[in-house]
Amino acid sequence: MAFVRVRHVLHLSVLLLAVPALADGPVRPHGLLHPAAGKAGMVVAQEAQAARIGVDVLQRGGNAVDAAVAMGFALAVTLPRAGNLGGGGFMMVHAAETGRTAAIDYRETAPRGATQDMFLGAGGKVDKERERYSHKAVAVPGTVAGLALALRQYGSMPLKALIAPAVRLAEDGFVVSQDMAKALARHEERLARWPASAKIFLRPDGQPLRAGDRLVQADLAASLRLIGEQGPDAFYRGAIAERIVAEMKSGGGLIAAGDLAGYRAIVRQPVTGTYRGYEIRSMPPPSSGGIHVIQILNILEGYDLAALGPNSAASIHLLAEAAKRAYADRSRHLGDPDFWKVPSAGLTSKNYAAALRKSIDLARATPSDEIAPGEPARFEGPNTTHFTVADAEGNVVANTYTLNLSYGSGIVAAGTGILLNNEMADFVAKPGVPNAFGLLGDDANAVAAGKRPLSSMSPTIVLKDGKLFLATGSPGGSRIITTVVQILLNAIDHRMNIADATAAPRVHHQWQPDTLRVEQGISPDTRRLLEAMGHRVEIGPPMGATQSIMQSGGRLFGASDPRSPDGRAIGY
Ligand code: GLY
Repeated sequence: MAFVRVRHVLHLSVLLLAVPALADGPVRPHGLLHPAAGKAGMVVAQEAQAARIGVDVLQRGGNAVDAAVAMGFALAVTLPRAGNLGGGGFMMVHAAETGRTAAIDYRETAPRGATQDMFLGAGGKVDKERERYSHKAVAVPGTVAGLALALRQYGSMPLKALIAPAVRLAEDGFVVSQDMAKALARHEERLARWPASAKIFLRPDGQPLRAGDRLVQADLAASLRLIGEQGPDAFYRGAIAERIVAEMKSGGGLIAAGDLAGYRAIVRQPVTGTYRGYEIRSMPPPSSGGIHVIQILNILEGYDLAALGPNSAASIHLLAEAAKRAYADRSRHLGDPDFWKVPSAGLTSKNYAAALRKSIDLARATPSDEIAPGEPARFEGPNTTHFTVADAEGNVVANTYTLNLSYGSGIVAAGTGILLNNEMADFVAKPGVPNAFGLLGDDANAVAAGKRPLSSMSPTIVLKDGKLFLATGSPGGSRIITTVVQILLNAIDHRMNIADATAAPRVHHQWQPDTLRVEQGISPDTRRLLEAMGHRVEIGPPMGATQSIMQSGGRLFGASDPRSPDGRAIGY
């Protein structure tokens, strides 16, 4: 098998810290992926210590999944606002040898006690506090099961060895960066409510940890060690499960022992499509991401975007119009496929895209006035995180996981050091009432026991002639889909290298609210042209934090989005 040589690695972010090497070496390979025997691979993540751990695994002969598992556990320590054990996510695993891609769904699941109206308060109004920041906001976490499943099926190294660097970082602590200090300050109030959370993330005087302070997470280290020694059962049936259930009981949450014991990660078929001769493989429901990335690309394939130019008013207009139509479909048709028949084939068909294209006016924005307007999309910072790994054999992992909002519910299960998600808020608490990302939805995504809330996370792998061209993904809630689409358009239509494709200013439209959000880099001239077409243009904070690997001329190029300053692309 041909090895990928890394000659040029684009480092868009510069923080690099050494971490202890792995305790154990690789064991005999098993599963579909063989450990990389060559000398080239790459890791891109939103936090540099975790990226270093991933590249250490590759250098020691681990494959892309081994590295991804080590990073998944490490980010729970080093990027606690989004990296997690108490949340869930999606992992795309592409095996070079078979050419197959698996989509591992380890999304959180509503506990058995969940009911459709559980977030309605007085007068039938959505109780946002209960939906987002209470023990009832917590869905059954999937991360530990998902990482363990990935390792069992595709990895080659012992779980204990892959968790060891995360244990040490949690135990010894590490220096809080400017970026983490900012995030902690922003969410101080959420963390201060719960003594177990405050003990970890706030100083004894109640102030959030500052840049330069040391973050030590002793309970988290103990939990990680237990998982390394006992496997996922420690989390779902053993001592950690007991503590999570105790936390739920003390705070009025719904997760019971049976919910944890019954949790399963699921291997699904990826959703697939093509765009100008490139093959797209992305995450199927319960993510909406893959379907709508492909739907938007299908609509845009009918236009000569290359000729219109990157971020011209004409190309932004077309992207916004395509996105509006896709997000409108999202609100009606997307939900957990085990509970709702999602018309995936229709949504991703070229014919449907052609029909939608007919409704797009090249010169005028179509108003999004079919549904009562919701609250403006809240603009939290990155609250989800993505990482991408490519090993020397051509195996690729694109993983996006989350606690939902930054620091999730803000609740640490006492004695575990584990922050719990607030993924229940990704369900539709009430039709017509927008969620935390301003997204609307209907019965397809109503709360139900055992159901997985709809996601926008879009880990995506693009192949050309069967070989990796690009793997990417991003945090950003509802904006993940359009962020991933723009990386693909920049790379495929505008022939940008991955550094330019990442840095280029981004735009976003999600149908409702009827606002075209743009980053500051979109020129005033362009904004004026868009306004003249009828778009309501708003300049907003940066969108997304993509972590991408592109293969070009037989070489790997990585880009960690400079919008999130602690990230790192490392090749070897
Ligand atoms: N929690 C954000 C998402 O899954 O889309």
